[in-house]
Amino acid sequence: MTKILIFSLFFLNLILFYFLNKKKIKNFFYKSKIQSVELDHVDQIFLNNQIDKKLYGPKSEVIVKNFCIQGNNNIVGMTSDYEAWIISSLSKISNNIFEFGTCSGKTTYLMALNSPDNAKITTLTLNPQDLKKIERNKFDNKVSYRNIINESIYDKFLFSKTKYENKIEVIFQNSLDFNEKLFLNKYDLIFIDGGHTFSIVKSDSEKSFEMLKSRGIILWHDFVPGKESAKNVVNYINTISKEKKIFHINNTSLCYYRKS
Ligand SMILES: C[S@@+](CC[C@H](N)C(=O)[O-])C[C@H]1O[C@@H](n2cnc3c(N)ncnc32)[C@H](O)[C@@H]1O
Repeated sequence: MTKILIFSLFFLNLILFYFLNKKKIKNFFYKSKIQSVELDHVDQIFLNNQIDKKLYGPKSEVIVKNFCIQGNNNIVGMTSDYEAWIISSLSKISNNIFEFGTCSGKTTYLMALNSPDNAKITTLTLNPQDLKKIERNKFDNKVSYRNIINESIYDKFLFSKTKYENKIEVIFQNSLDFNEKLFLNKYDLIFIDGGHTFSIVKSDSEKSFEMLKSRGIILWHDFVPGKESAKNVVNYINTISKEKKIFHINNTSLCYYRKS
């Protein structure tokens, strides 16, 4: 009897430990199919300047215009400051930029602030009023689907009514209906950060491969193994990496692909 009790307690503790540390355990056993690289693998602009024997610093190419959103502002679906700096730096060398998923427009604004004066940024997003038309496919993660609803709340953006607005075109459309054939081989930089369900990530990515210029870069946001809402993003990128050379950027949730 005592033995059974001890065994049951041990077993219950094991289950409790698993649920409390689920993410860490999953990460421990996760074997990435994607190689992680340093930033200078993405582009030479990220190579450091040697200032002194032990001191390295940024080149002028990666000094950017930036702003931060204060914590009490409750804006959803944002990149980290480090990721925002990477995207801003790449925007400096991009004339045609496309973004899947605008949300508050934080990244769009940074792209407009940092890209050349004559650059054009197109950002595609769901109109909050069209949410009823979004359907969940049977392979689509429930949490990712719920996030689409929670993040599709803006129809005015951080860049609205600023002088940068004229560099930006907002398309309110379900990306599944977007006709990429009109924009083939056009973009230097594409940021995929729209719906995180499998069907949407797959469709946005396949369109992006077609829309990308030679030497252009695609960035995916939210490659976070073990995170429930990013599950479909990780699955898709792992699957497609058998055909396309995709790399994860160290210390970020970004993956990138450069068209040769
Ligand atoms: C994570 S947020 C984007 C965050 C934004 N890129 C940023 O860095 O601030 C996701 C956005 O994707 C949009 N979205 C989700 N599913 C979409 C779809 N099928 N078509 C177009 N936009 C979609 C949502 O409306 C939301 O604005």
